Amino acid sequence: MHIVVLGSAAGGGFPQWNCLCPVCRLAWEGDNRVRPRTQSSLAVSKDGERWLLLNASPDLRQQILATPQLHPRGKSRGSPIAAVFLTNGDVDHIAGLLTLREQQSFTVFGSGATLAEVSGGVFGVLNKELVHLQEVRPESKVETGFGLSVTPFSVPGKVPLYLERGDVEIGAEGEETLGLEITDGAKTFFYIPGCAEVTGRLQERLRGADLVFFDGTTFTDDEMIRLGLSNKSAWRMGHVAMTGEKGSMLRLGDLAIRRKIYVHINNTNPVLVEDSPERAKVEAAGWEVSHDGMEVRL
Ligand code: MLT
Ligand code: MN
Ligand code: ZN
Repeated sequence: MHIVVLGSAAGGGFPQWNCLCPVCRLAWEGDNRVRPRTQSSLAVSKDGERWLLLNASPDLRQQILATPQLHPRGKSRGSPIAAVFLTNGDVDHIAGLLTLREQQSFTVFGSGATLAEVSGGVFGVLNKELVHLQEVRPESKVETGFGLSVTPFSVPGKVPLYLERGDVEIGAEGEETLGLEITDGAKTFFYIPGCAEVTGRLQERLRGADLVFFDGTTFTDDEMIRLGLSNKSAWRMGHVAMTGEKGSMLRLGDLAIRRKIYVHINNTNPVLVEDSPERAKVEAAGWEVSHDGMEVRL
């Protein structure tokens, strides 16, 4: 299996257009301890010919330009992108569908809740005769038709930000937020870019896995609050922090996972600074911090 990290940052990208937090400031200054990153997405293929996108980021056009495997092929028009699997309805995971609007046939997999968000309004620009929306259900394996199968499963999450009304339930395990188990029949990996809590059930699912890409949004739960950028904790945003009693480093620590890679990294997260103590800490705990263009062969 071929895996390419198209975008390793969380919503907003890195640096974020309006942000001068300590980490973004380094990026704006061109400091070589940080690399700019685009928004959250992976590309996966069994044969290197047909590719599945895991989420479609607002930066998808730029990501395609940067990724020769995704350049058009054939005589006139034709993309190796055969399908997109959506893990939730957040803007950073769906807006890239608008980039794929030029009369190209592909499939969009997602839960009923997520597909509802990409069916109407501006997404009506996707030609219904060519773009097939295929609803998936948690724990129900989906065949892509090009050598990859995906089993989506519920992880603790919340409704997309733009659908929040009144009291928002955080940590519900329904169809709002999915993790994905992807296999080519021989090898298997997990993609979980958004997850509010590492539950015992999730720990059991991931125990002994070869490869897990996991939510690396913030280093500490109160990161955005301490920086004075937001009044929301990571938990309130539907993300589990790396550190702390409930943090992903601790809760995914002793599960004999062979390779653990953080994705969906927010621009405030100090692990983005290559010589930071925080980066050293996650690496000492056996984690890799993904970057755009990172390739993994499984
Ligand atoms: C998130 O991951 O929390 C979302 O991408 C937030 C957003 O939509 O801006
Ligand atoms: Mn996001
Ligand atoms: Zn920032």
